[in-house]
Amino acid sequence: MDIESFVSDLPKAELHLHIEGTLEPEMMLALAKRNGVTLPYATVEDVRAAYDFENLQDFLDVYYLGMSVLVTERDFYDLTLAYLEKVHGQGVRHAEIFFDPQAHTERGVSFETALGGIRSALDEAGRAMGITSRLIMCFLRHLPEEAAFEALECACRHKDAIYAVGLDSSEAGFPPSNFSRVFAEARAAGFVPVAHAGEEGPAAYVEAALDDLQVARVDHGNRALDDAALTARLAREQTPLTMCPLSNLRLKGIPALNASPVKRALDAGLLVTVNSDDPSYFGGYVNDNYLGIYEALDLTPGDLVALAKNSFAASFIDDSAKQAGIDAVDMYVERFQR
Ligand code: ADE
Ligand code: ZN
Repeated sequence: MDIESFVSDLPKAELHLHIEGTLEPEMMLALAKRNGVTLPYATVEDVRAAYDFENLQDFLDVYYLGMSVLVTERDFYDLTLAYLEKVHGQGVRHAEIFFDPQAHTERGVSFETALGGIRSALDEAGRAMGITSRLIMCFLRHLPEEAAFEALECACRHKDAIYAVGLDSSEAGFPPSNFSRVFAEARAAGFVPVAHAGEEGPAAYVEAALDDLQVARVDHGNRALDDAALTARLAREQTPLTMCPLSNLRLKGIPALNASPVKRALDAGLLVTVNSDDPSYFGGYVNDNYLGIYEALDLTPGDLVALAKNSFAASFIDDSAKQAGIDAVDMYVERFQR
């Protein structure tokens, strides 16, 4: 089977994608010029040369610097639409997208500016490309609880546009329990809770995300597999994990792609999915992640089909839309085999 052409249009949902992490170097430089923002990079090659990370924090420093070029609502619109147009050509039918409003409000760009541009592009992608979406607002875990409460207050004014709340940024030393009260208030306000956990932090952080934050889904969750009892619990409860193999590789969470835990998670019966995280920074979009682990983990086409079905099953669309996504995968496989 020509696996590249099989994956290229395999219907899928992307569930772990930071919109600010889709900022390609070309757009970064163009927006810097448009907005008069000074960057320490003159060329696309300079930007790419900075993408050499030893760990999560190394990346985050470059990521927060890069997003300083996002200033106007149009910038956020252009960024979001460019991502959606790209993955429209990769079989993505549904996208659940993170944004980091505190990283914008901290530098004087309003919550509404960021949200307005992103939601206009999501609406446009729905109309023009038939891509459905959900927006997830992340709290930055390196900032105080107080700042997260302020972001939540903003989100409460835009409940029509924001479906879920997440937790991201530096992990080690910032346990989920720091945000128990914010998440309790967010849940009470009707937001679905998710959190990054077990990317660099220990299995105990995954457990804390489940118990203290009551998350509906764990982002990454790699380190959960270090703990047999926790792995069994995730399998029993079918709590989805949104894994990101190329991200793990580039942030040196794994020494090589063949150490990705995706196959172990599948074998353990977990509801695991494959995603791109910050594709511009990590050298590949969602299909590059599917193809990378296919090769490195010696997966079968059937494994990729299972991952694509999981992506719909683990999403926040309603049950009939989930089934439609799963049926679309089956129909695609049948047509491909003819
Ligand atoms: N923000 C953007 N990408 C992230 C990641 N992989 N982990 C934590 N925070 C992030
Ligand atoms: Zn992430």
